[in-house]
Amino acid sequence: MSETLTITDNRTGQSYEVPITDNTINAVDLRQISVPDQPGLSTYDPGLVNTSACRSAVTYIDGDAGILEYRGYPIEQLAEQCTYLEVAYLLIHGDLPNPEQLAAWEASITQRRFVHENVKALTEKTRHDAHPMATMMASVAGLHTFYPAGRRYDDPASRDLQVRRLIAKMPTIAAYSYRHSLGLPYVYPLDTLSYTENFLAMLFKMGEPRYKADPRLVRALEVLFILHADHEQNCSTTAVRTVASAGNDPYTSISAGIGALFGPLHGGANEAVLRMLDRIGDQSNIGSFIDGVKAGNEKLMGFGHRVYKNYDPRARIIKDACHDVFEVTGVNPKLEIAQELEAIALEDEYFKERKLYPNVDFYSGLIYEALGLPPEMFTVMFAIPRTSGWLSQWLEQVVDSEQKIARPKQIYTGKRGRSL
Ligand code: SDX
Repeated sequence: MSETLTITDNRTGQSYEVPITDNTINAVDLRQISVPDQPGLSTYDPGLVNTSACRSAVTYIDGDAGILEYRGYPIEQLAEQCTYLEVAYLLIHGDLPNPEQLAAWEASITQRRFVHENVKALTEKTRHDAHPMATMMASVAGLHTFYPAGRRYDDPASRDLQVRRLIAKMPTIAAYSYRHSLGLPYVYPLDTLSYTENFLAMLFKMGEPRYKADPRLVRALEVLFILHADHEQNCSTTAVRTVASAGNDPYTSISAGIGALFGPLHGGANEAVLRMLDRIGDQSNIGSFIDGVKAGNEKLMGFGHRVYKNYDPRARIIKDACHDVFEVTGVNPKLEIAQELEAIALEDEYFKERKLYPNVDFYSGLIYEALGLPPEMFTVMFAIPRTSGWLSQWLEQVVDSEQKIARPKQIYTGKRGRSL
């Protein structure tokens, strides 16, 4: 039995043999199938639902089995046993760091947490109610103006330096946009604090000499950052790879990823879930809300996934993390509505036949809100850790000899042959 596909073009009766590799056929092999006066066949796949656009060794997902692995390690083990910076190192370098590598990695990121004061000024010049995702997108794109050497993406040392800079600076940029929205002074990074402790301090420190984050909240944030770090070829990673395919540096490429993540169908869903729960208000309204979803009036935000046709393994872990956080902050009253909503949806044929389960965004917002963050900051909390995933994918993209500048075809539906 040969690893080939035999295709018969019934328009001509001609047969073609196309090789199957990695359970795919190369779309370019279809070009040979043609009829006179027409170009050869190509594929049409809106949203790239059934199209592999790259090879990657970073993340493996089995959507039917609900499996998620970073570089071969199950997400459950990483969330249980690692810190976010260990996982960021794993995504970027392919293996977990030994103690010496981890110490050097943490030190090199700690020393790069500051941003140029002009980046701070960029945030200061936005309106008080600027959405922090828009501010973050602008600030990250703006980082390119301070590190133009990032364009030398063919230089491994430059790639490595930009990676460390971006991982280090995302929490600072995020915290600045949050403090700006409240009219509060910005809090500078403190080298004596861990990555997540320092982020919480930059968000919430007020007049006290030293902000002390509850270790249970620090650990919960580590877990959330690990769970959000990468997710193979999602929409925002595809945006990063597409911009990188034109020969762009990580700042420019990742600002495009932030833009894609901002969308409510993608990372913006965690903000949309909280607004949905606010609109539902209380459990007595859940039935009519579900009816509205089934009538097609709106989506049940935080449910459904292009790949997972089972429970998103991250949602299960986040649901458990809720309890750890609520021990400190008090239970978010919206938890009950969310749990009731989930219980009803999981029993309802409409959701079951469409294999709609809670995804990573369904419960995460409840934690961010319990930490005291407004809904506008929720997707920012997603973008910070996803930066290490985007960077690991950017690194693959820029050195992959099979890759070309992204330039898909189209099916032209417009008029032809007009003249003025
Ligand atoms: C993330 O790709 C990733 O890996 C993303 C992510 C990551 O880590 O990077 O996991 C993060 O983006 C998670 C998803 C967050 N988005 C939301 O929670 C928004 C709500 N979900 C949907 O918009 C939707 O489920 C998507 C966008 C997530 C997936 O959409 P698909 O795969 O394109 O599926 P579809 O829109 O074709 O839906 C199939 C059917 C449709 O019904 P019919 O037309 O067949 O009748 O399911 C319905 C959809 O209407 N449907 C929903 C629904 N999601 C799909 N109906 C109600 N509520 C929903 N949430």
